[in-house]
Amino acid sequence: MTRLPAPLVTEEEIAAKVADLAARIDRDYADAGTLVLIGVLKGSFVFLADLARRLTVPHRVEFIAVSSYGDRESEEHLGSVRLLMDVRHDIAGEHVLVVEDIVDTGHTIAYLQRLLGARGPASLRLCTLLHKPDRTEADVVIDYLGFAIPDVWVVGYGLDYAERYRTLPYIGELGPEDR
Ligand code: IMP
Ligand code: MG
Repeated sequence: MTRLPAPLVTEEEIAAKVADLAARIDRDYADAGTLVLIGVLKGSFVFLADLARRLTVPHRVEFIAVSSYGDRESEEHLGSVRLLMDVRHDIAGEHVLVVEDIVDTGHTIAYLQRLLGARGPASLRLCTLLHKPDRTEADVVIDYLGFAIPDVWVVGYGLDYAERYRTLPYIGELGPEDR
């Protein structure tokens, strides 16, 4: 029998938080016209799917893919982010909401905010399901936050460990036995 990662955030807690975030976003963008949601692949795809289906404001879904250079734990490449796949649509003049799974060091989001901000959106905000405040080095403003969590490796609800556990329905803490 395979052991499952210990739950840190349950399915019920996630669902309640997603509904809550969607209600806030609905209120904030009520008069903004079409909102452009940009999901950061791959980790955000589950969260984005649930969040977008909860929104009642008009919105469009786009994706962007980035990766950190080399091993994220190696000091040598710390903070370098590479664009793997860009959005397919010009965002100049648009209200853009970046949807992330987790802000860890913050380098990915800092990079994306520079990249997208330079394209002249009408507004640019960030919604992230998770944040590890103890690990964050970059200066990032989180407009919509799901849960602040301790410095542990989490999986499930889109998040992976070596591509495993992405479709676990809850957020679990990866233990040594789960690796
Ligand atoms: P950052 O650039 O250090 O903020 O890293 C952001 C990215 O690292 C996230 O979008 C995730 O893809 C990945 N990441 C960071 N921490 C975790 C974790 O605990 N579990 C799974 N992925 C993580
Ligand atoms: Mg991510």
